Amino acid sequence: MNERFTVLKTDAEIRARIKELAADISKDYQHIKPENPLLVLCTLRGAIFFSADLVRALTIPCEINFIKVKSYQGTRPAGSPIFEFGEQIDVRGREVLIVEDIVDTGQTMDTVMHNFADKGAASIRIATMLDKPSRRYPHLIGTVVPDYIGFSIEDHFVIGWGLDYNEDFRLLPDIMIYNPDAED
Ligand code: IMP
Ligand code: MG
Repeated sequence: MNERFTVLKTDAEIRARIKELAADISKDYQHIKPENPLLVLCTLRGAIFFSADLVRALTIPCEINFIKVKSYQGTRPAGSPIFEFGEQIDVRGREVLIVEDIVDTGQTMDTVMHNFADKGAASIRIATMLDKPSRRYPHLIGTVVPDYIGFSIEDHFVIGWGLDYNEDFRLLPDIMIYNPDAED
């Protein structure tokens, strides 16, 4: 069998998991005061739905902003990630939670974390909907370790729930394994 689309996680499973993650995050950031709310940085565009649901389930003071890092072309990483915007966000003294759709080679999160660490963030953690640990670049194993993971998955190219293939399929309600070479 060589299907083009295979459901990996259903919408219901994802929503239930987000509630659990939000509870964990709210607990870990209990010390957060309204004067210095948690700065949640949604990485566009893949993490839009995940971060929207996640922040609305948090019970701590938080603020949301957006960064854009581009790195993928088709189903392959396209070299070093580039910040398209987000450089101007003032993270000095802020507790930062980066929200990502999927951590793959780890390059993107490595770039983002270094950038914000250099700019004086008080703390930086990563919440990712999906993690593909087997794909991590060897030099980033043990360095790029997401703090909150929705689901850890095998090495598949996935789409839906914000994830795209060349801008297609973002709006699909389930997360699906996509096999562009499958015969129709
Ligand atoms: P990394 O820098 O290799 O960790 O890749 C991170 C980015 O590549 C993610 O934020 C996604 O936007 C994209 N990406 C990685 N794997 C997939 C996938 O399976 N489907 C869709 N996008 C992916
Ligand atoms: Mg992304």
